[in-house]
Amino acid sequence: SQDPLVIFTPSGKRGRVPRGTRVLDAARRLGVDLDSVCGGRGICSKCQVTPGSGQFLKHGLHVAQDALSPWNAVEARYDELRGLAPGRRLGCQAVIESDVVIDVPPESQVHRQVVRKEAAQRDIRMDPATRLHFVEVPEPDMHEPSGDLERLAAALAAQWQIGPLDVPLPVLARIQPALRAGKWRVTVAVHRDHGEGPARLVDIWPGLHEDGIYGLAVDLGSTTIAAHLCDLDDGRVLASAGIMNPQIRFGEDLMSRVSYAMMNPDGDAEMTQAVRRAIDTLAAQIAVDAEVDPRAIVETVFVCNPVMHHLLLGIDPVELGQAPFALATSGALSLAASELDLSAINPAARSYILPCIAGHVGADAAAVALSEDPFAQEALSLIVDVGTNAEILLGDRNGVLACSSPTGPAFEGAQISSGQRAAAGAIEALRIDRETGMPRFRVIGCPLWSDEAGFEEAVGAGGITGICGSGIIEAVAEMRMGGLLDASGLIGSAAQTGCDRLVPDGRTHSYVVHDGRPDGGPLITVTQGDIRAIQLAKSALYAGARLLMDERGVDRVDRVVLAGAFGAHISPLHAMVLGMIPDVPLDKVTSAGNAAGTGARIALLDREARGRIERDVRRIHKVETAIEPRFQEHFIAANAIPHATAQFPELSR
Ligand code: FES
Repeated sequence: SQDPLVIFTPSGKRGRVPRGTRVLDAARRLGVDLDSVCGGRGICSKCQVTPGSGQFLKHGLHVAQDALSPWNAVEARYDELRGLAPGRRLGCQAVIESDVVIDVPPESQVHRQVVRKEAAQRDIRMDPATRLHFVEVPEPDMHEPSGDLERLAAALAAQWQIGPLDVPLPVLARIQPALRAGKWRVTVAVHRDHGEGPARLVDIWPGLHEDGIYGLAVDLGSTTIAAHLCDLDDGRVLASAGIMNPQIRFGEDLMSRVSYAMMNPDGDAEMTQAVRRAIDTLAAQIAVDAEVDPRAIVETVFVCNPVMHHLLLGIDPVELGQAPFALATSGALSLAASELDLSAINPAARSYILPCIAGHVGADAAAVALSEDPFAQEALSLIVDVGTNAEILLGDRNGVLACSSPTGPAFEGAQISSGQRAAAGAIEALRIDRETGMPRFRVIGCPLWSDEAGFEEAVGAGGITGICGSGIIEAVAEMRMGGLLDASGLIGSAAQTGCDRLVPDGRTHSYVVHDGRPDGGPLITVTQGDIRAIQLAKSALYAGARLLMDERGVDRVDRVVLAGAFGAHISPLHAMVLGMIPDVPLDKVTSAGNAAGTGARIALLDREARGRIERDVRRIHKVETAIEPRFQEHFIAANAIPHATAQFPELSR
């Protein structure tokens, strides 16, 4: 009679296989994604499936009760020791007897999807570079004098088609004890790059290693270093943490760090050491937070701007401080984490650093491109990652342009008289009554507005401490909308505007947001100097975006994506009133959250995505703002609020 028909769900892959075929073998033959760490020995339970799903019955397929063989001794033993959930079978033990539908649950799929929190985009596909494999290695034999490593390598090649194998010294020393303790059965963590190149042995454990292995996605910013610890088996983020970049003591912004390197012998080495140490500390801390063994962190991925990139790698960034802004290397890098002095994690852990786009547009912008994937968009998207430097991408499936624009730290609350970083106590949202000119605001860490009952108690002991980036943007835009500020950015007087929150301040005026002095708190004002700092920052951002639009030959974009931790908190309306971003329907302005961090996470979990971004960055056309005269023209015209000449029809809707 005919061979049995097997249909796998959810893939829908189907085919006939000889009676007596193991489900795992059928899956492999039909190209179905079914996981296995132990290679079919009935001990890892990664291959679990659920037979007999009824959904294909309507197609006339008759599924017999005994379509799969009954439990064998291995399965029975597994169930006795660990317990198999009702209806579940081990795919490596169950044998196909007749027509059957077999469901592969998400946790048994090798390339399962990780749902991104920022739901707007597609999910992350799991294909980490480092995976676990269980191997049985022949015992040594006096008549066959090969080494333990050689027999392990041969077993890996035979059982998992892995090789040739590269073995770092610290792992070599662990092979003999692991083989003996595991009675010649071991689990190995093997790293394979997405391209060519050898497989690398990262670690080895006796028997079946049941604890997980983890990866760290690091967004190395000039101000903060943020990291996510991810489970390399299922892609979950187990912990996230951030610390200040200790290089701040060598210079607040990137250019001052470049000058520090130029002025001080060994200045670059000092900064390299500081940042590497901070990453090591962060890695150790995050492992504690997630309650995992730091040694189980076997991979790290870095995204950063070009200056941070060079300083992380121990390369003097001096060339990045002057035209033509040549990078030491723009390509992606795959190296041993120990080369970056990361000692808190697994000694044989690997590091991957995303490619840079150009001398001013770094691996962080590449990570944003990986996360937001403008190449896949029908709509012309303007993606801005707002930080001390704004990284700007403009494009769609026909091509992508990129530039960076020196916005300065004003958007992060720095260089603002009452400014502070976004932290508890900072005013993050602000409205001004059009009639009275009175402010009402919200403070980070408190859900109430300042004019709501219970606000004082809710703010708590720390009180109101200052104003952060999103707060200052809203303040300036609200002042403009309330007529307290003219289009040139000049603050009016109380007499001119009828608003008694405007007080003389030297030869100019300031707007009083909050006067905490009676209670020993701060006086929080928006000064003329603050307005000028925001005007400079927003003009730089707008000019960068306009330059890319000129280059592309368009007057409008279809959508704007605000990326970055800060972008997540900007109100689209206020950003547009200020003229930070070009005119676009407000519902076409979205926030992508920390897109660079998400890009790092994608590169950590999906090897194939590394290949994709390496190809894509070569297709991104870089526009250099520093040497482009039109940038200056756009910059000056954008100084007015919202703009000297550009129209913002969406604002009058
Ligand atoms: Fe490991 Fe089936 S493949 S238990």
